[in-house]
Amino acid sequence: MRSFACFLLAAPLLASCAPSPPDKHSGHRHGDHDDLDHHDDHDGDHWEDHHPSTSCGSQPTKTSSTPPTSTTSCVPITTPTKAFTVIAAHSGSPIHLLPLEAGGLGFHLGGGTASYCPESVGSSCPPGNQTVFLGSSISVLVPGGQQQYVEPTGRVGYTQAHSAYMPTGSIPGGFNYYKCPSEPYGHITTSVFGATGLMACPDGSLGTQKYVVFANIPNAVVPSGNVQDCIGFDGLTIDYDGPVPAAWQYT
Ligand SMILES: *[C@@H]1O[C@H](CO)[C@@H](O)[C@H](O)[C@H]1NC(C)=O
Repeated sequence: MRSFACFLLAAPLLASCAPSPPDKHSGHRHGDHDDLDHHDDHDGDHWEDHHPSTSCGSQPTKTSSTPPTSTTSCVPITTPTKAFTVIAAHSGSPIHLLPLEAGGLGFHLGGGTASYCPESVGSSCPPGNQTVFLGSSISVLVPGGQQQYVEPTGRVGYTQAHSAYMPTGSIPGGFNYYKCPSEPYGHITTSVFGATGLMACPDGSLGTQKYVVFANIPNAVVPSGNVQDCIGFDGLTIDYDGPVPAAWQYT
């Protein structure tokens, strides 16, 4: 899935930078091997005229000098370089493209971010209306921060401000990040407790339906009591350019 997405995104980039002769296109896609073939077929000057690097000045990655080992893979970065927000992706499902938001010392999809800032902080309070991650956890201004964790039930939570408490057996952190350099979106996922990623589990206890975020494990203890009600999703990360931290604390 990851590799496939990278290829889909890489293909137009290569195509847009490839000049008109078809042999150059394939040389760019296949790397050194084709370049060597060109060298065999043409004299040096001619080959230089066709070298892809002369026509790809605006390309962000130098694929001509570092051809991918395969057109269907990328070397992802695994440490985010910027703060980011997250949206859920599972096309055709009711949660598709909903933002992942903090509230109730856990995460849900859609419905808004729950945050707090003391009156004494006044105009220095961050907006607090978006759930922003920095590194692999939520980013807050409150002294001591707030630690994200995964409970043995699968529920993804975070500590209350000024407290280190997390339920027994919880694993701090738990999110993995990866992003292909050419991709507009990164991804967060989790493998703690053998999870195969993230899932959204319906919770109708407050009258209105909402989806609570869990690690996707078969024995998760979910609000409806039936893990089959949950919807697996890909956590797409979007670079965030606003003020960081984006909240004093999430509640
Ligand atoms: C958050 O609040 C700020 C102002 O406090 C506003 O400019 C911004 O549009 C809001 N963002 C969202 C996602 O609601």
